[in-house]
Amino acid sequence: MPKFKTLGEADVQGKRVLVRADLNVPVKDGKVTDATRIERFAPTVKELLTRGARVIVLSHFDRPKGKRVPEMSLKPIAAALSKAVGAEVAFADDCIGPQAESVVDALKPGQVALLENLRYHNGEEANDKAFVAALAKLGDIYVNDAFSAAHRAHASTEGLAHVLPAFAGRQMQAELEALTAALEHPKTPVMAIVGGSKISTKLDVLNNLVRKVQFLVIGGGMANTFLNAQGIDVGKSLCERDLADTAREILATAQVSGCEVLLPVDVVLANALKEGVETHERLADAVPPDMMILDVGPDTVQLLRDRIDACKTLLWNGPLGAFEITPFHKATFEIAHHVAKVSKAGALVSVAGGGDTVAALNAAGVADDLTYVSTAGGAFLEWMEGKELPGVKALG
Ligand code: 3PG
Repeated sequence: MPKFKTLGEADVQGKRVLVRADLNVPVKDGKVTDATRIERFAPTVKELLTRGARVIVLSHFDRPKGKRVPEMSLKPIAAALSKAVGAEVAFADDCIGPQAESVVDALKPGQVALLENLRYHNGEEANDKAFVAALAKLGDIYVNDAFSAAHRAHASTEGLAHVLPAFAGRQMQAELEALTAALEHPKTPVMAIVGGSKISTKLDVLNNLVRKVQFLVIGGGMANTFLNAQGIDVGKSLCERDLADTAREILATAQVSGCEVLLPVDVVLANALKEGVETHERLADAVPPDMMILDVGPDTVQLLRDRIDACKTLLWNGPLGAFEITPFHKATFEIAHHVAKVSKAGALVSVAGGGDTVAALNAAGVADDLTYVSTAGGAFLEWMEGKELPGVKALG
C-alpha cells in the first residue's frame, strides 16, 4: 500500500483544513440524483468538525475548462452536503481570491464552507504554481478525500500536497485499504471479471491483470473480440476485429503467467438490442450471421459461479451483458447475487468499481453486500492498470 498520513495523525483543532472532495455527482434539474459520493465523504467532514477544525471543502464539478459555466456551479451541491454532514454549509462564489477569503475568514472552529468549482480556473487542471499558492493561502492543512479524482495531477489533487502538511481523508483511506487488499496483497486464488463493450479501452487493465490474477473472466462486448480472435464467427455482434492480434497476445501472456482466461461458452442472442426482443440461447461457437451476442448464457453463469466458489478474492469492473436492456441483465444480476451471497458469508473478498458496474450492482440490489464498492470510475481503471495515481503518490 502507498505510504500516507491519515486524518488521525493531523492536529486540526482550530486549524483551517482544506479538504479535497469529489462532489462530481449526477445532478438533474438542480437536484442531486445519486448522493453516494457525498455520503461516503461525510464522515471525514463530521470527524473534522467534531475535532474543532474549520473545514473548507474543495471540489471540481464536470468539465467547464477554465470558464464560469453556470450549469456547472457547485452551489446546488451545498444543500446535499449540508444534509449529509448535518451542519450548515457556507458557500463561496469563487475558490480563490477575496470572495473565498472572506467566507473562510468568517468560519469558526466546527464550521464548514464549500468553495465554487475549482475548474472555473485554468490553473486547476494545469496544476499551476500560482493557483496552488492561491488555494494554499486559504488553509493550514490539506486533506485529500477524493480517490476518484486521484488519477488527475491537478492543483487541488496533487499540487497542494507539496505545499501544505498533507493527509488522506477517511474515504481515501478506505478506498486504498480495500484496493490494496484486493490486488496487492490478496488472498488467492483471485478472479477478475472485466466486462464492458470494447477491449480498446481496457487493454492496459487486461495486460496488468493477466499477470496478477489466477482467473480472468472476460464478458460484455469485449468477449466477442476474443471469440473472433480464436476464429469463432460472432455474427453481427459488436466486435473489434482489428484487435484480434492484441487479443491473441493477451491470451498468450495469460498462458505463460498461469492465468486461466474464461470466455463465454454459451451466449444469449437477438437480432437487435431492444427491450422485449425475441432471444435465443446458443453455444458461443454457433452464432448465426444475422444475430448478435447480448449476454452470456446459463452454462457460462454456472461455470463462473463454480469458479467464484473456488476463489478467495474477486475484482469486478464491467458488466457481462447489455444489462441496461431487459432481459440482457440476467447474467450480470445472477453473478452479482452470487458474489453478494458468498461475500456476506465471509468466504470472498469482493471489490467492484466503475460507473457501469456500480449501476448494475445497484440495479441488482446488492451494492451493499459486496466487501467494497468503489465510487471511482477513471481512477479505479487506472489503478487496475497498475498505474501509480498522482493524487495518492503526492500524499506519500
Ligand atoms: C469522476 O467522476 O470520475 C471524477 O470526478 C473525475 O472526473 P474527470 O474525469 O472529469 O476528471
